[in-house]
Amino acid sequence: MLSNSEVETLLSWDRISSRFRLLARHYRREKPSIKDTAFREVYGELIRRIVKSRLPHEPWILKTDLWNEGVENGRNILSLVRGASGKSEIVGVDISGNVCGYARRELGDDIEIVRSTLLAPPFCKRFDLIIDISTVDHIPKRLRERWISNEASLLKENGVLLISFDCKLNIFCEVFHQLFTRRYYPEWTLSPVSIRQQLNRYGFQVLEEHAVFILGLFLGTHRPWFPFSRLLNRMRVIEAVKAVELSKCSRLLAFLAPQYVLVAVKTNS
Ligand SMILES: C[S@@+](CC[C@H](N)C(=O)[O-])C[C@H]1O[C@@H](n2cnc3c(N)ncnc32)[C@H](O)[C@@H]1O
Repeated sequence: MLSNSEVETLLSWDRISSRFRLLARHYRREKPSIKDTAFREVYGELIRRIVKSRLPHEPWILKTDLWNEGVENGRNILSLVRGASGKSEIVGVDISGNVCGYARRELGDDIEIVRSTLLAPPFCKRFDLIIDISTVDHIPKRLRERWISNEASLLKENGVLLISFDCKLNIFCEVFHQLFTRRYYPEWTLSPVSIRQQLNRYGFQVLEEHAVFILGLFLGTHRPWFPFSRLLNRMRVIEAVKAVELSKCSRLLAFLAPQYVLVAVKTNS
């Protein structure tokens, strides 16, 4: 059973999202911001690789929240997934009715949107790929175990989980969360070691892991006055940063990068 504060946390997203949607529309610009481009580039590349090397034809793909599609839609990931995965079934879920509504307006009819949560998944289907980009770090601590165990149950054997979260090893990120983020919405930094252990407990084998979204460290990149914006927004710079982030040694950057991503396959053990 959920406690009152857990219920409050889950229900808070309708209120939070309408506020952030207004802000995001206010800052909407002709050209995507540095952060938005960097975000889509690194996650897009990882997803394209997984689709190419691990998924069957006509895969079933699930994304665990729709914030990137409905609120901060400069970071729309599902349209990239649609482009990369051809004839696939794509489902996006979110706990917030508002976020689902906003995403519905932005996405084509060929992506199914379900107001729900992986804490109590409504599916009898199982998936080939689950994309959890920083949803897990919004789940209250006590419920996180159930979240990951449900991700395991919802995957087919040899299905792939892409899971990312704000990284506890980055002190700047931790302080930013404590002073700023948590005043506006529930989110916690997580440690790569504890997520890796949880994945192992539920029969996952980690295929690769990276510290990512280094450009997300710069505050104010959505403002026109940001000092290095023209330099940083060059595709060549973003591509170079992505190459470092997706290299084998990028884990060493976990003290600097705001997010950490693990790609894991579900085995039958
Ligand atoms: C601030 S956003 C961050 C996630 C986003 N993918 C990103 O990259 O920043 C959090 C999103 O997760 C959704 N969410 C929070 N808790 C959830 C839950 N238990 N089940 C499903 N969605 C949830 C919220 O409604 C919101 O759309």
